[in-house]
Amino acid sequence: ASALPTDYSIRPLQRSDYHAGFLDVLRVLTTVGDITEQEFEARFDEMRNGGLGRGGGYHVLCILDGQGKIVGTGALVVERKFIHNLGLVGHIEDIAVAKDQQGKKLGLRIIQALDYVAEKVGCYKTILDCSEANEGFYVKCGFKRAGLEMAHYY
Ligand code: ACO
Repeated sequence: ASALPTDYSIRPLQRSDYHAGFLDVLRVLTTVGDITEQEFEARFDEMRNGGLGRGGGYHVLCILDGQGKIVGTGALVVERKFIHNLGLVGHIEDIAVAKDQQGKKLGLRIIQALDYVAEKVGCYKTILDCSEANEGFYVKCGFKRAGLEMAHYY
């Protein structure tokens, strides 16, 4: 596993991270919207108490810089199946590294940590969707092209 820069750390998302810049990091990925602290906490609690085992099946990780600001994040969602002997499938979601922190292997470190969790909880594979522009990043993280994403927006 690659090392983090000195003073940086990686840990699970905390209920108090509304004030550590969590949503701002996600804004490099897509639209986040105006989420209040109460709304953030309610969603955090749902994800923790979802009744799908540890973490409700959600494992959201954050990388913090030396000042305690969140500069990267990513999530693993563990899906439960009947097939493959009650198999578990990991889904990597919402990977984002702050613009001025990209290229320091923080993204790679997030993927390695999520992969480690997936294997540890017993997933037989981990999958994700990404754009063509990000394919090279995930190849460097050990993933390979498989299947095709389809979507139906409402
Ligand atoms: N295409 C090809 N190679 C790439 C790309 C890319 N888009 N991005 C990074 N790499 C390479 C790096 O050069 C590096 O290679 P090296 O080991 O040979 O030096 C390796 O991949 C690891 O790169 P990191 O430094 O870990 O990448 P970074 O920390 O910048 O994070 C990320 C990459 C997450 C894609 C970041 O650029 C980002 O946040 N982008 C905006 C949001 C986004 O697109 N997120 C992913 C959405 S897909 C999803 O969430 C499932």
